[in-house]
Amino acid sequence: MDPCHAQWAGFLHDLWCRDEPGVRTVLDLCCGTGLLAAELVRLGYQVVGVDAAPAMLERACRLLGPDVVLVEARLPHLPVDGVFDAVVSTFDGFNYLTPDELAQTLEASAARLRPGGWLVFDLHTDAMMGFTAANPVVEGEADGQRFVISSVVDVAARTCDTRIDVERQSDGDVFTERHRQYFFADSQVEAALGHAGFELVAVTDEYTYRPVDEETLRATWVNRRPVRDPRSRGEQAEVRGAPHGGLGQRAVRQGHADGPAVAGQRDTRHPREPGQRQHDLTGGQRGLSRRGPGILPHQVHEREAVGQVRQLEGETWR
Ligand SMILES: C[S@@+](CC[C@H](N)C(=O)[O-])C[C@H]1O[C@@H](n2cnc3c(N)ncnc32)[C@H](O)[C@@H]1O
Repeated sequence: MDPCHAQWAGFLHDLWCRDEPGVRTVLDLCCGTGLLAAELVRLGYQVVGVDAAPAMLERACRLLGPDVVLVEARLPHLPVDGVFDAVVSTFDGFNYLTPDELAQTLEASAARLRPGGWLVFDLHTDAMMGFTAANPVVEGEADGQRFVISSVVDVAARTCDTRIDVERQSDGDVFTERHRQYFFADSQVEAALGHAGFELVAVTDEYTYRPVDEETLRATWVNRRPVRDPRSRGEQAEVRGAPHGGLGQRAVRQGHADGPAVAGQRDTRHPREPGQRQHDLTGGQRGLSRRGPGILPHQVHEREAVGQVRQLEGETWR
């Protein structure tokens, strides 16, 4: 199993295990090869995975077996029935969406969540945009394959066009994939969440309880569908069962010097106060994300999966 997904699932499990009605069913959007779903299943969750790429889903199916329902769909289209306790999207899945698609995907997610249900996803930060722009080429080797990741960041457009060349060292076989990701401004994400009716609980550093800071490359956005919808009846949003005495009281945005704290929540710009609980379920994994634009070697050496991403993303390459 993949250690980073195990730790991410551990964070989610810790987050959800204090949820009052309990989290049992999880919708995994952009599930890819099923690495997170596998960890969630191991922890006892019932998971439905959604991804646009058939080859990713084939790998997920092999990993997960028949107990996990996998749906081929391109977000924001979400042809999934039922109501879930949580919706997740890990490993930059939402960075592949355009801003409009992100907004529509959040709305579609809200429609699939029970009141009080959780929406947790990660997104690249501005620090990641800066890091990628400053490190446009990342090279390495994984499992007998040499890879070169070349990125072109358009800071004004907040896009990153990435080309990945992979060479199998045993026979020199080479292939290339290209894709586009979007760097969302916090204000864009907050507006889309608000429009979809979500209550933002916290923005933390890569599936930990640490608040984001200026070094955070991957931010985890923790949100809930209010128990009562404040938009429909003019009622106060109510979020029940917030864990650890209220994650939002503590682990909100930090380090965005000009950015406001989330409305109604304490500004925790000095997060490491004495006595403050410092969960770090990711261990040393945080450093992995510093290698490049959110692409880890294990994605690169999954040739079949990568080939499918090439098909999926090819149309957006310019
Ligand atoms: C970087 S992978 C993340 C996979 C998985 N979430 C994980 O944690 O390993 C991104 C995934 O998003 C999928 N994807 C990209 N755009 C999508 C879209 N519009 N709808 C559904 N899936 C999409 C890709 O096929 C790919 O499997």
